[in-house]
Amino acid sequence: MKALVYQGPGSRAWEEAPRPNVVDAFDAVVRITRTTICGTDLHILKGDVASVKEGRILGHEGVGVISSVGPSVRTFKNGDHVIISCITSCATCGPCRKGMPSHCEGGGWLLGNTIDGTQADYVRIPRADTSLHRVPDGADEDALVMLSDILPTGFECGVLSGTVLPGDKVAIVGAGPIGLAALLTSQLYSPAQIIAIDLDDHRLEVAKALGATHVVSSRDGKAVERVMALTRGKGVDVAIEAVGIPATFEICQDIIAAGGHLANIGVHGKSVELKLDKLWDHNVTITTRLVDTVTTPMLLESVLSGRLAPRKLITHEFELEDMMKAYDTFGDAAKSRALKVLLRAP
Ligand SMILES: NC(=O)c1ccc[n+]([C@@H]2O[C@H](COP(=O)([O-])OP(=O)(O)OC[C@H]3O[C@@H](n4cnc5c(N)ncnc54)[C@H](O)[C@@H]3O)[C@@H](O)[C@H]2O)c1
Ligand SMILES: [Zn+2]
Ligand SMILES: [Zn+2]
Repeated sequence: MKALVYQGPGSRAWEEAPRPNVVDAFDAVVRITRTTICGTDLHILKGDVASVKEGRILGHEGVGVISSVGPSVRTFKNGDHVIISCITSCATCGPCRKGMPSHCEGGGWLLGNTIDGTQADYVRIPRADTSLHRVPDGADEDALVMLSDILPTGFECGVLSGTVLPGDKVAIVGAGPIGLAALLTSQLYSPAQIIAIDLDDHRLEVAKALGATHVVSSRDGKAVERVMALTRGKGVDVAIEAVGIPATFEICQDIIAAGGHLANIGVHGKSVELKLDKLWDHNVTITTRLVDTVTTPMLLESVLSGRLAPRKLITHEFELEDMMKAYDTFGDAAKSRALKVLLRAP
């Protein structure tokens, strides 16, 4: 088969790789029909993710068709169409039973990290019964690729941890795929204002088209003043950090209203300053979370009903074998205006 193989910092190749087989009784092997590239894959390629070793097939998102199952797999059989969750869950360990499969003792984020991933013709999925989701007949499988990672991430780490409520004022800092997923899913709770903040005017235009009530550019360093003006000097009830750098976490601290929730989604490579001298009496809640993908069934229903339309995040489409070109396009998002690139195999 063919696969996108990480060859050490700065280097990737679409090359021949051995086709995976069932190794454990709970495994399934899935033939990939759709996959995509995540910002995290770009971080891996820069050499920022130490757990990913040379020779690893990347990718933790996808939809496909089951091609073989181990003897202990109960709910899936050959030919079933499935959504692959970026988080592998055994459903029985302590963290899984707490609803936290991101910290599953035998699972968590494995795909395209510590085991081979989905940017390939085939992928082996451990604990298939509790790590795959059935695709209902007739569903738009392109849109369902957004359920592997970005929709549950924006929803769980941003909207649910931030406890968005009807009438709330919400700010989302960062209008990349994850911030936009938080923007789409926050609307399930009817907030009064959704303010999207980014440096990139095109991404702000997209945010507006996807339901932001206000957009704010942070290019000139005046985002905080603008958000305070939009909220009559009070700040926002929910500030969602969807970038992962000190500057944007700082914006969130500066715009959070008394009683507010600051929900961090961004993966931070550097420590940030916590402004406790300002926040100690503000009754503020700060949350962090690694996506658990426990809300995928609920989000799937919302997509099927048409209430959520994640297909709008797909900006480019490629054949699976054009993976290298898709990476070039996604890696140059400022110029290509890429959000999610979809790769398809027949
Ligand atoms: N917690 C989790 O489980 C989890 C899961 C997936 C991704 N993530 C993280 O979520 C974050 C967002 O992911 P993404 O794929 O959307 O990334 P992205 O890089 O595509 O988007 C980030 C956006 O932030 C904007 N930005 C950068 N600096 C800014 C600034 N100073 N002010 C305002 N906007 C600024 C960029 O223009 C860009 O549009 C990343 O840190 C990613 O690693 C976390
Ligand atoms: Zn991802
Ligand atoms: Zn577990």
